[in-house]
Amino acid sequence: MVSSATTESPPVTPPAAEPRPEPLSEQAGAPACPPWPAIITGTGFDVPSRVMTNADLERMVDTSDQWIVERTGMKERRIAEPDEAASDFALRAARRALTDAGVEPAEVDLIIVATVTGDMPFPSTACVLQDKLGCTRAAAMDLGAGCTGFIYALSTARQFIATGSYGTILVVGVEVLSKITDWTDRSTCVLLADGAGAAVVRRGSELGRGILAEYLAADGSRGPDLYMPAGGSRVPASAESVRDRLHYLRMNGNAIFKVAVRSMADAVRHLLAAARVKVEDLRLLIPHQANLRIIEAVAKMLKFPPERVFINIEKYANTSSATTIIALDEARRAGRVRPGDLVAMVAFGAGLTWGGVLIRW
Ligand code: ACO
Repeated sequence: MVSSATTESPPVTPPAAEPRPEPLSEQAGAPACPPWPAIITGTGFDVPSRVMTNADLERMVDTSDQWIVERTGMKERRIAEPDEAASDFALRAARRALTDAGVEPAEVDLIIVATVTGDMPFPSTACVLQDKLGCTRAAAMDLGAGCTGFIYALSTARQFIATGSYGTILVVGVEVLSKITDWTDRSTCVLLADGAGAAVVRRGSELGRGILAEYLAADGSRGPDLYMPAGGSRVPASAESVRDRLHYLRMNGNAIFKVAVRSMADAVRHLLAAARVKVEDLRLLIPHQANLRIIEAVAKMLKFPPERVFINIEKYANTSSATTIIALDEARRAGRVRPGDLVAMVAFGAGLTWGGVLIRW
């Protein structure tokens, strides 16, 4: 028999509310009602200082610089030290984005961290970051959508901005894939790497600017094509799971290749249709950096000029949810994103998930 005795919780004293900065929407020139424009006002990224070249990989597994360059376009990647974790890179990327945006940590309303390799299962890496940054007013949450994580997180931020719930959101994509990489498996270890990127998204006052459209999609039936078998509630960590090497990423690379090309091209088409613009109007395409051949195939499928596709895969390889935001920050700093430009970011990844965002800079 279940006891009906109740144990009453002690009353919770809510913390004193801190004064909030005046919402941007109440400033002159802003639209009078939702949806408010969501503008990226700052970006930044950070990668580990340790460089791992294809020559280094040649000494670890049966591979060659020629195979890696020809089949993936990757030349080197950044790998974390044993004592480095996701929030270390997220912190530096976030600080750079906040500085770029001219935003103080106390102004941030919400932090969303896209990752599948957070510091630990809980608390969320977003909460760790909130504390390290001193974003004392911010709510914080992690979001897992594989390599599409940053796109999902940016879209989520846009919803909070559009409805008027929040005025300033910090969106981070960070991965330390080297910690879930089987360094004896040549089919995956040459591809994966570590890094973080961050963007500050704020409520804008000019319609037709900022994030114009988003497209998110998923096909859970394809989950087994890219997954990590253990470490969750299905197969918790045990001596056996470690012995059987179940805490590493597993991937059916060939099957994913085809989906990747189709899904990223599809995402671009959806974005263009939603914003009623043509592919020629697109100034820059920033795709997920998983394989140079995938990126080239997407551009070909869309009949999009290759010189207007941003590629940095040769330097950083596949940092999963961090690739698109690292690329956006580099593109901005290289002068390839100017005010008024139409920029599409698209990605695909574990889930399977895919999608994109269209931004008028
Ligand atoms: N070095 C040398 N040879 C290799 C290597 C390597 N690192 N890896 C595989 N090979 C061999 C294979 O064993 C195979 O040999 P075989 O013909 O004797 O059997 C041969 O190369 C060809 O293998 P494929 O798998 O057909 O090679 P492919 O050209 O398809 O390239 C790759 C493989 C790079 C994995 C590609 O399929 C790919 O990029 N797929 C998409 C990966 C991806 O984007 N994943 C999602 C993101 S990852 C994430 O979410 C974190």
